[in-house]
Amino acid sequence: MLSVNDFFSGCGGLSQGFKEAGFKIQVAVDNQEAFLKTFSHNFKDSQTRNLDLGDSNILKDIPKSDIVVAGPPCQGFSLTGPRNIDDPRNKLYLSVFETLKLTNPKAFVVENVRGLKTMWEGNVFKEIIKKFESAGYIVTESLLNSADYGVPQIRHRVFIVGIKKEINKKFEFPKPEFDKDDYITCGEAIGNLPSLENGELKSNDYNEKPITNYQRYVMDSNKIYNHEATLHKQFVKDTIALVPEGGNYKDLPKGVGDSRKFNEAWTRYHSKKPSRTIDTGHRNHFHYKWNRVPTIRENARLQSFKDSFEFLGTKTSQNVQVGNAVPPLLAFKIAKELKKFL
Ligand SMILES: C[S@@+](CC[C@H](N)C(=O)[O-])C[C@H]1O[C@@H](n2cnc3c(N)ncnc32)[C@H](O)[C@@H]1O
Repeated sequence: MLSVNDFFSGCGGLSQGFKEAGFKIQVAVDNQEAFLKTFSHNFKDSQTRNLDLGDSNILKDIPKSDIVVAGPPCQGFSLTGPRNIDDPRNKLYLSVFETLKLTNPKAFVVENVRGLKTMWEGNVFKEIIKKFESAGYIVTESLLNSADYGVPQIRHRVFIVGIKKEINKKFEFPKPEFDKDDYITCGEAIGNLPSLENGELKSNDYNEKPITNYQRYVMDSNKIYNHEATLHKQFVKDTIALVPEGGNYKDLPKGVGDSRKFNEAWTRYHSKKPSRTIDTGHRNHFHYKWNRVPTIRENARLQSFKDSFEFLGTKTSQNVQVGNAVPPLLAFKIAKELKKFL
């Protein structure tokens, strides 16, 4: 079994996809204990290391692996200019280059926000690719939309995949499988979860049967974890009630909802469409039918986490873990494809 080390692992969205594709997740590294607790809970056979990846001295203590996967935070990237990749302020990205040089894995997969491609007119991105190539890899990159791969969410992210030069193969990304017209929708993904509208705050027991193919895919547990409603003030509920499916603050009457007025504010999911990008906050998006923010489980499903994946920590932390993650289903499709090249 090929082994994987996951740098900047978070709760393990990227790792989950690799695990499901038959890779062995060896070590996860992150500097947030709360995220690593979720990771350990869901990956019982893997090690976790709470380390600051900005400190290159720690890298030598991490055992080698066949594959390195990484989702460095974009804030770690300095905007000082395209030619300054080696600027020490870019240390989080540099730790990925360093790891490749130190441990020489067969392949790597790096994920990042799409803004990385356009920074400094695309020159930063070109420099990153060059740097990966100079570490001895044949590099392929692509901007992928998760919805094209069966995730019920519009989420554009850049993926960079490198295969060791000696293997002499250029990775090809899996082809999109879904068209705009047949994207998996919010309704198909979360429509059979308990509504929590009748005063109940949470639900753990699961008697619902899957109705859609997507529900059959995610429903691998007879318990529902992390399905807990947020208690909103009445005026918040009343305001949400005024927004139609797929609408946002622009649909509110004059003077209502003025406290939040930006693109994502008061956005209601649409039952017949994929969700907007799940972010790390928890006050901008609302359930397509119920007058409340989605529960962690609802967002986890929209991110393609299966129901057995349980998130630990405070609700704020769980929102960050879910919002930060690479959708496991997309990670699975990339991992499965990568296997063919190794
Ligand atoms: C975008 S998230 C990665 C999400 C992950 N790939 C997934 O699929 O779930 C970035 C992660 O980098 C971690 N991080 C940020 N700075 C770090 C540092 N200096 N050392 C280690 N981890 C760091 C954050 O805690 C966060 O979990």
